[in-house]
Amino acid sequence: MKNSLEQLKKEFEEMMKKVTDRAALEQLKNEFLGRKGKLKSLMADMGSLANEERKTIGQFANEIKETIETVYGKKEQEIDAADEGNREAREWIDISEPGQFPQEGHLHPVSQAIAEITEIFSRIGFASVRVPEVDFDYYAFESLNMPKDHPARDDWETFFVDAPETSKGKLVLTPHTSNSQVRTMETTAPPIRMINIGRCFRRQIDVSHTPMFHQFEGMMIDKGVAITHLRGVLDYFAQTYFGPKRRTRLRPHHFRFTEPSFEVDISCDVCGGDESGNCRLCKSGWLELGGAGMTHPNVIKAGGLDPAVYSGFAFGWGVERTLMMRSGIKIDDIRVLYKNDLRFVKQF
Ligand code: PHE
Repeated sequence: MKNSLEQLKKEFEEMMKKVTDRAALEQLKNEFLGRKGKLKSLMADMGSLANEERKTIGQFANEIKETIETVYGKKEQEIDAADEGNREAREWIDISEPGQFPQEGHLHPVSQAIAEITEIFSRIGFASVRVPEVDFDYYAFESLNMPKDHPARDDWETFFVDAPETSKGKLVLTPHTSNSQVRTMETTAPPIRMINIGRCFRRQIDVSHTPMFHQFEGMMIDKGVAITHLRGVLDYFAQTYFGPKRRTRLRPHHFRFTEPSFEVDISCDVCGGDESGNCRLCKSGWLELGGAGMTHPNVIKAGGLDPAVYSGFAFGWGVERTLMMRSGIKIDDIRVLYKNDLRFVKQF
């Protein structure tokens, strides 16, 4: 009996050495000390022993039990301590690690330019208007002092919609944003300060033209509006959008709906307005922005106003062209704006 106990103790110590985790320790404890454990079943045989012997063996069994329990306690502490030491490795999270963000796009450079131009003009009281981009001949041409079959219309290589003619003429894809002039005068009482940014369509495609492009049209109608106001607005825009060192220049030109008419140039960013002809980009010190002029009396009349009382100015420029002239943006082919090549678009 005593030998069996010694045997059991040795067996326990042997197995104890191999225990490294809590589950194995628990299992070992059950195996030896549990209700159906090895020690219990050994002691069950004690009934057949003499009293004296029974006592000794009982004591011995208790000793073993205690040993097992002490060892168990010690081992448990060891395992707990090891667990604690491992905790950092098991549970460590890097709270400074940047999170995972969904991929975020941004507005197309032309949309950005439109938003920026609108904002710049809003600061000096030019309200943003929208007019149809498929419009009647009347608003695109006729009301702008260009009667039917007038040769000046040839300057706008216009797409006509294959639809029945109306009392306001055929439907066209607007070849410029100037259709907003009479439309705005019809709906708004002076003083008028409006900015209209819209899509335009012309039958042209090459490095500096796409069949669809954008223009922004500005118009001011009030009593006593003069060229000085036009100049002030143009300079304000040029210096706000292009930079404080840029200057504008008005060159005589001809449009049917403005009198006098001008072509607006802006001083070149590369040479700073050097007129010697040496600049590789502009060759003259100036870059052409777009058209402008004092609103023709016939247009004011078409808008239902009296040209003897009201005067005004208008200007119309290409958005893409204006964007391309901005310092630091070197786009040498306008068509790249509409190729939907993300490698290009992502740079803005
Ligand atoms: N609509 C003209 C164009 O497309 C530009 C312009 C607008 C000129 C307003 C004068 C006044 O070329």
